[in-house]
Amino acid sequence: MNILLLGSGGREHAFAWKIAQSRLCTQLFTIPGNPGTAQFGRNYAIPVTDFQAIKTFVLNNSIEMVIVGPEVPLVEGIFDFFIADEQLKTIPVVGPSRMGAQLEGSKAFSKAFMMRNGIPTAAYREFTASNMAEGIEYIESQQIPIVLKADGLAAGKGVLICASKEEAKSSFKEMLEGMFGDASAKVVVEEFMDGIEFSVFVLTDGKSYKILPSAKDYKRIGELDTGLNTGGMGAVSPPAFVTDKMMEDVEATIIQPTITGFQKEQIVYKGFVYIGLMLLKTGALKVVEYNCRMGDPETEAVFPRWKNDIIEVFQKTMNDELSSVNIEIEDKAAVTVILASGGYPGAFEIGKVIKGIEEVNDVIIFHAGTTVDESGNLITSGGRILAITALDEDWRRAVEIANAAAEEINYEGKYYRKDIGFDL
Ligand code: AMP
Ligand code: GLY
Repeated sequence: MNILLLGSGGREHAFAWKIAQSRLCTQLFTIPGNPGTAQFGRNYAIPVTDFQAIKTFVLNNSIEMVIVGPEVPLVEGIFDFFIADEQLKTIPVVGPSRMGAQLEGSKAFSKAFMMRNGIPTAAYREFTASNMAEGIEYIESQQIPIVLKADGLAAGKGVLICASKEEAKSSFKEMLEGMFGDASAKVVVEEFMDGIEFSVFVLTDGKSYKILPSAKDYKRIGELDTGLNTGGMGAVSPPAFVTDKMMEDVEATIIQPTITGFQKEQIVYKGFVYIGLMLLKTGALKVVEYNCRMGDPETEAVFPRWKNDIIEVFQKTMNDELSSVNIEIEDKAAVTVILASGGYPGAFEIGKVIKGIEEVNDVIIFHAGTTVDESGNLITSGGRILAITALDEDWRRAVEIANAAAEEINYEGKYYRKDIGFDL
């Protein structure tokens, strides 16, 4: 089968790595890809939101399945674009419909979906410029800290946790006045939840579902979870504190009602649901957010543990036969450590030559922000450069193995957190 993968990060290298192991994959093409995905097929420099150009590419290359890594093309409706096109409608796109992707594309939509379907989440209200005064009153009446969320996609930056009502009220106004452009024309004001976060990944055909390994990501730049938020500095799968009992609760109170909600509301969803969860101090479990895709860097920790032929599973998903799949998971834990550019998530330099990748063993290295220069050197091209994944029966040992590899690889300004898993 000729397969097209969309995206360019560490997550997409992990997809490419997994797809290439499938007995059903003949050729893999990636748009736009990175030097990691290029190890398994060719990359093509087409924007992931240029659906017309993707159509031409799909027809010219006899693509038989499209797999979407990032959220933006899903939220912009790539699934619906294929269904609506006479020439493309029989080519399966693994990912939710535009409506399903609203679970990530609109915080207000996802909160209302949870309310309608009795899914536990923080109390909230939504406001626009037309009822700003009501919003200010609402903030006055709430406890602090309080959480403000831009309704739309804001590249992971649209959530503010405010320590005082003054800060909340002024940020609330700024958001409605365009702090995140159109994304904050609507703002969700939400109760703060205190606890420990982890994520559960579900694959669904819209009727049945399969649960993949859970993971915890480390979003802050600094050790001991300090400093600015990033795209993610590491991940552990499974997080040691997640018990079987907890997963049973998550399945009964969150996963099942989510999938039943898709059916009741006729939401077409054939892809991954990322459920961000908070384990509260009281032991209760609530949803922090949904994403309509796999996580990054969680995919780099979860996929190396997943044993099934991924394309076979996707075929079953697209044919409404997911219930017949038996998900097989490696019993080892996986730890992913991200190598970043010095200065990230603030200003950083790119173009630094990366050395030592070939010398490291015992780990899987996924490319995130790398490129190849005119002389053929592998160089840095972003904030997050490489994801290093180690597997071991003991997750602590996996941290050591990943850190040892992180030490071996070098480029000017290399930065990584040595404390992934510190809180487990
Ligand atoms: P989101 O984009 O909704 O995932 O929010 C980004 C991050 O903000 C989450 O991963 C949490 O760390 C934090 N966050 C979001 N909502 C809440 C909440 N209600 N209480 C506490 N932290 C939150
Ligand atoms: N690691 C967080 C995300 O993928 O959204």
